[in-house]
Amino acid sequence: MPYTVPKLDDFSPAALDAAGRDLLAAVRQEAEAVSGENDYKNFRDRWMARKNGVLTQINDLWLKAAPGPAKRDVGARVNQLKTEVEQIVEKRRLWVLAPTITAEHPGIEIPAQDWERYIKDAQLLGQKIDITLPGIRRPMGAEHPVIRTMNEVIGVFRAMGYSVAEGPEVETDYFNFEALNFPPNHPARDTQDTLFVAGQEKKAQRDRLLLRTHTSPVQIRAMLDTPPPIRVVAPGKVHRADTADATHSPVFHQVEGLAVDTNITFSDLKGTLDHAMKSLFGSSMKTRFFPSFFPFTEPSADVSITCFKCGGKGCRLCKMSGWIELLGCGMVDPNVFKFVESNGYDSQKISGFAFGMGVERITMLKYGIDDIQLFYQGDVRFLEQFA
Ligand code: DAH
Repeated sequence: MPYTVPKLDDFSPAALDAAGRDLLAAVRQEAEAVSGENDYKNFRDRWMARKNGVLTQINDLWLKAAPGPAKRDVGARVNQLKTEVEQIVEKRRLWVLAPTITAEHPGIEIPAQDWERYIKDAQLLGQKIDITLPGIRRPMGAEHPVIRTMNEVIGVFRAMGYSVAEGPEVETDYFNFEALNFPPNHPARDTQDTLFVAGQEKKAQRDRLLLRTHTSPVQIRAMLDTPPPIRVVAPGKVHRADTADATHSPVFHQVEGLAVDTNITFSDLKGTLDHAMKSLFGSSMKTRFFPSFFPFTEPSADVSITCFKCGGKGCRLCKMSGWIELLGCGMVDPNVFKFVESNGYDSQKISGFAFGMGVERITMLKYGIDDIQLFYQGDVRFLEQFA
């Protein structure tokens, strides 16, 4: 038997409750039965039509018929019922329309259980929603592998009492070269293909700007800031005029280190770096110091660690040597101290060591990444692997 709006004689709250319950039960039951679009229209008109719809009828038969004292209560109840019926009808509309919308937008696939959610949202918001808009999904971010390695390296040195310093990426010739004992026009400058800022010719050479080719200028800045003793690491971005390929990038990252105190010796350098490499790559790693040259250190060394692919036996990765070259280091050249003498760096009284490493290179070796460009392409499929 289809629902018909009863006339009310009793306007007590209990009687109104019961009448409201019956009405809602009826609209819900009828909503369930609605299947096609025509069906829906009949259903909507039966309940909502201005002329003779059920909602109009309760207005007439309940509200208008209510005796004076009950009007207020009945009015509130009728309004509440109207809202609920409207929501139930709207929910059915979305439900019936779902297949049509999906057909009109072949790209979207909305599983049945999600429709329920869309409809609920629409109800909660009291509005219709454009279900063709993409939903809100915020994937978790993750530290970039280069930054992660950088933080790991910094962490190892912080644990040994080092502080962290930074310097500018646009640097002067003076800090990038001259104060690091690369004299003007010295061929050692050619080892670092430099990107210069244009239009600087009028300035004295030492004041000309360039993109720093290494983090070593932070050594000078740190010593000007802080008198000895000093222990500092300086992470940061550096630039070289290199053509990009699998192992080169014009922008990359380094971590620099500097320790200056009385009686710092080469064995302190060896012990510190050996400990750092074991912390970063595992305690079975061995380090090897091989004579090298840098203008700002004397003596200088390149540090290699045991090849982690073959454990030192010799393989393609280490070019059959059993060793992988990882960083440069050395004892701070007395000529460098001359540039910071005014802040207490007297090479007769103090000594120090310095080191610098490429963060991308370490990361590539650590994770077996064979192309440096992967770090900069922002391909989420690559980055996700480090999440
Ligand atoms: N600055 C050097 C470079 O970019 C790396 C380096 C070598 C840094 C030796 C140092 C060092 O502090 O002592 O190639």
